[in-house]
Amino acid sequence: MKPVKVGICGLGTVGSGTFNVLKRNEKEISRRAGRVIRVEEIGARRENSNCDTKGIQTTSDILAVAMNPEIDIVVELIGGYEKALELVLTAIEHGKHVVTANKALIAEHGNEIFEAAQRKNVMVAFEASVAGGIPIVKAIREGLAANSINWLAGIINGTGNFILTEMRDKGRSFDEVLAEAQELGYAEADPTFDVEGIDAAHKLTILASLAYGVPLQFSKAYTEGISKITTDDVNYAEELGYRIKHLGISRRTEEGIELRVHPTLIPEKRLIANVDGVMNAVVVDADAVGPTLYYGAGAGSEPTASAVIADLVDVVRTMTADRDNRVPHLAFQPTRLSDTPILPMEQVKTAYYLRMSAVDHPGVLAEVTRILADQGVSIDSILQKSTHKNLVPVIILTHQVQEKQMNSAIQQIEALSDISGDVTRIRVEQLDAN
Ligand code: HSE
Repeated sequence: MKPVKVGICGLGTVGSGTFNVLKRNEKEISRRAGRVIRVEEIGARRENSNCDTKGIQTTSDILAVAMNPEIDIVVELIGGYEKALELVLTAIEHGKHVVTANKALIAEHGNEIFEAAQRKNVMVAFEASVAGGIPIVKAIREGLAANSINWLAGIINGTGNFILTEMRDKGRSFDEVLAEAQELGYAEADPTFDVEGIDAAHKLTILASLAYGVPLQFSKAYTEGISKITTDDVNYAEELGYRIKHLGISRRTEEGIELRVHPTLIPEKRLIANVDGVMNAVVVDADAVGPTLYYGAGAGSEPTASAVIADLVDVVRTMTADRDNRVPHLAFQPTRLSDTPILPMEQVKTAYYLRMSAVDHPGVLAEVTRILADQGVSIDSILQKSTHKNLVPVIILTHQVQEKQMNSAIQQIEALSDISGDVTRIRVEQLDAN
């Protein structure tokens, strides 16, 4: 059989890893794919000293790679939006299959890309776009195909998890840890994407579409970052038996699908609460199998290359199958996607951790609990820390209530003259199986 010819666009962290692993494991990979996978051309603005591309045709014009008649599969590893979209659509238009690690591109333009691919009868594979080396796309799309999925929750941004872990374990500052993540090549080009949850929301959008068979709807995801989490919150959470993790959560309810990224208190005894550093993990709760957990490196050169190459192998194996006999892009047949709505955050029901600074005199707590009761919020526990100051920190854990009710309660509590400053609110999830 003739080798399959691949064009790699982008020779950064993931591109160089992909090139190196393809070369190093060439024999094993071709035994699996049934054909040799050969890098025919590289499209990159500059060389990368981490890989030796001598003898490979190289161009700085990535669109030329997408149009090269010799190439069967274009691997998009340039990241970003406009240029990547142009590259992918050009490749599809020229009848190439596409492998991409670009979560922003899939989350925001995936519907358009898959439609174009369907029209041209080519595949677009994106395993590396979510949780780096963890084969979570394949697990949901194929491994869990028998199930009705109830919910999924994941630590899907390594940089954010690294920051929270180092803050908790070593008391290091936010900025210092972020700088280290950037040096290690984990952080996004714009690190606010990591710490403000945008990167995680891109990945969650993709996971939810695969889990429930709905079109990609990134614009409806609720996104809250970790930059306001303090060491005090981390410590109080520990005292209450919880860890704070930056989670992407998607749950199917009768009213619609929840799609939310925010810092979350989870019981410390859950396996996912103990996923530290840059590691990622996703729990999927499904009706037949129950909860399953997927854990591994969520970023980095070769872990992400592992997912890119798995996609290459998949594409090579199914290159001759017609479109109706391939695994559909979003797990469900394109004509059978559902229009279940994404729930606005105000309609989401969850439990809460509230922290506030209260003036230390009789009746303050009674006022706070009265407001909560009026909004139908039931209290799980209260922690009041004694200090020598006039203001004392009060921490309240609540039972589940609709976000709308909690917003109103917080607004009223903040208006009390005996409460100083804002109320910190962190959502709490038990993550137990249904
Ligand atoms: N910036 C991402 C992370 C890289 O930290 O997880 C992988 O998508």
